[in-house]
Amino acid sequence: MKGIILAGGLGTRLFPLTKITNKHLLPIYNKPMIFYPIQTLINAGIKDILIVTGGNNAGDFLKLIGNGKEFGLQHVNYTYQEGEGGIAQALGLAEFFADKDKIVVVLGDNIIEKNIKKQVEDFERQKKGAKILLQKVHDPQRFGVPVFSKIAGEQESKIGGEEAHKIIKIEEKPKEPKSEYAVTGIYMYDSRVFDIIKTLKPSNRGELEITDVNNDYIEKGEMTWDVLDGWWTDAGTFESLLSASKMVAETGANKTD
Ligand code: DAU
Repeated sequence: MKGIILAGGLGTRLFPLTKITNKHLLPIYNKPMIFYPIQTLINAGIKDILIVTGGNNAGDFLKLIGNGKEFGLQHVNYTYQEGEGGIAQALGLAEFFADKDKIVVVLGDNIIEKNIKKQVEDFERQKKGAKILLQKVHDPQRFGVPVFSKIAGEQESKIGGEEAHKIIKIEEKPKEPKSEYAVTGIYMYDSRVFDIIKTLKPSNRGELEITDVNNDYIEKGEMTWDVLDGWWTDAGTFESLLSASKMVAETGANKTD
């Protein structure tokens, strides 16, 4: 399994902080933001990593991370996304790197308290399709939000512990969210993800949306899901950038126990 970190885009929601540097180089407590998703992959046992970067100061990633010695790596792969064509466009640039393997994708501004080792191992055993990780949030309208229908079946009791649920679709930043869950920026895909990306059309915000990719797998009946352990946050707005630093300072991130 290979790991891909998406650290492209222009980070416009954090202007002027991102006017002269890349969002993923900004500090989260005592480390640059990009260190956290790298550690997330390494803690899951993934050492073959591609960083897709873009925007300002992309060269600084090399200065900061180099060959990944600080993380116990011998080599890190890099590629460059021009402009801000969306998460799915950035992922499309990783096709040559994935080379038909299954992949774990982590958004460069997503930070977790614990680890995803179990879920990655579950996905290794999954014959085909994709897997997403959810987390309960107080502001689902900021995220991709799963819409559930009740079923009896294998994913029973994951949510609320009472009823069985199946995801019938994901809505991107809905004004009226149909659940209290966010789709986190950690995605697992088989190699067909790159064929799906090639069929996408830009959304209203002019981007190729990862939610459209996920809905394609849901329509095929090939999407599984799990709920993340511990806290999860993005760090792409002023509020979440601040709260991410506070959470890391108070409880630590990327715990392996
Ligand atoms: O954080 C989880 C959320 O991330 C999901 O719940 C949403 O479904 C998903 O669309 C995404 O929402 P955002 O609007 O918050 O994504 P944002 O544009 O902030 O991009 C998140 C990261 O993705 C960013 O830190 C780097 C990468 N990215 C983004 C864009 C737009 C790229 O590499 N290239 C891009 O063109």
